[in-house]
Amino acid sequence: MGPITRDPFKDPNMHTTSSSHNNRSSLRRLLRQKRRQLSSYEQKVASYKACQRVSQQAWFLNASNLAVYMASDGELDPLPLALKAQKMGKRVYLPVLHPLNSNHLLFIRFTSKTPLHKNRFGILEPCLKGYGLERINSCKIQALDLLLMPLVGFDPHGGRLGMGGGFYDRTLAVKPNQFKRPKLIGLAHECQKVDQLSLEAWDVPLTGIVTPEEFYLPQ
Ligand SMILES: Nc1ncnc2c1ncn2[C@@H]1O[C@H](COP(=O)(O)OP(=O)(O)OP(=O)(O)O)[C@@H](O)[C@H]1O
Ligand SMILES: [Mg+2]
Repeated sequence: MGPITRDPFKDPNMHTTSSSHNNRSSLRRLLRQKRRQLSSYEQKVASYKACQRVSQQAWFLNASNLAVYMASDGELDPLPLALKAQKMGKRVYLPVLHPLNSNHLLFIRFTSKTPLHKNRFGILEPCLKGYGLERINSCKIQALDLLLMPLVGFDPHGGRLGMGGGFYDRTLAVKPNQFKRPKLIGLAHECQKVDQLSLEAWDVPLTGIVTPEEFYLPQ
């Protein structure tokens, strides 16, 4: 029997090489540790500063539909920005684990009345229970102007390392010219920066990264 060939886009457990898998895993562990070491005061200041920086950008001011996330595990918290955007009359969305399309995300409208619950990863997300899919106030990824993304690590060239589920990568995966992607902005602490991530074929690069100290805009 010949060697079994595995398609990286069909096998969620496959990485190109086991050494890249090991590197990614150990880098994730290290960077997650670093961001969890920030005190709650440092977290609050970081969130305030990064949200201020985002709120001055034309791509934020001009966005009508934007998605944020509920921070966990020491991620930079975009909640102040979400509340500001809601007050400005923008439509704000949160990702939920897609109930039908496994390992993909669905973006659900987030208002002051949206009931939230913890998903299987312990992350708060809008509760879909009791709603038929046709009654869910969701937004297609193509209709989002701006997607603010959590990350474990980034490089100044737009490389992004997430938690390792491939959820954002799968949701954003498209054939060339299939649709215009929203602006993809990673939110991070400075301690999550590395010089250069080694990326895989499926990793979708970021348009920019905002930290409390900088706005990185890859050329
Ligand atoms: N477009 C895709 N189609 C199918 N599988 C994918 C796709 N993108 C990523 N994956 C799978 O998901 C797994 C995790 O990917 P990766 O390590 O890039 O996660 P991540 O970027 O850290 O996570 P996330 O996107 O949730 O932030 C990989 O093993 C990969 O095979
Ligand atoms: Mg990835």
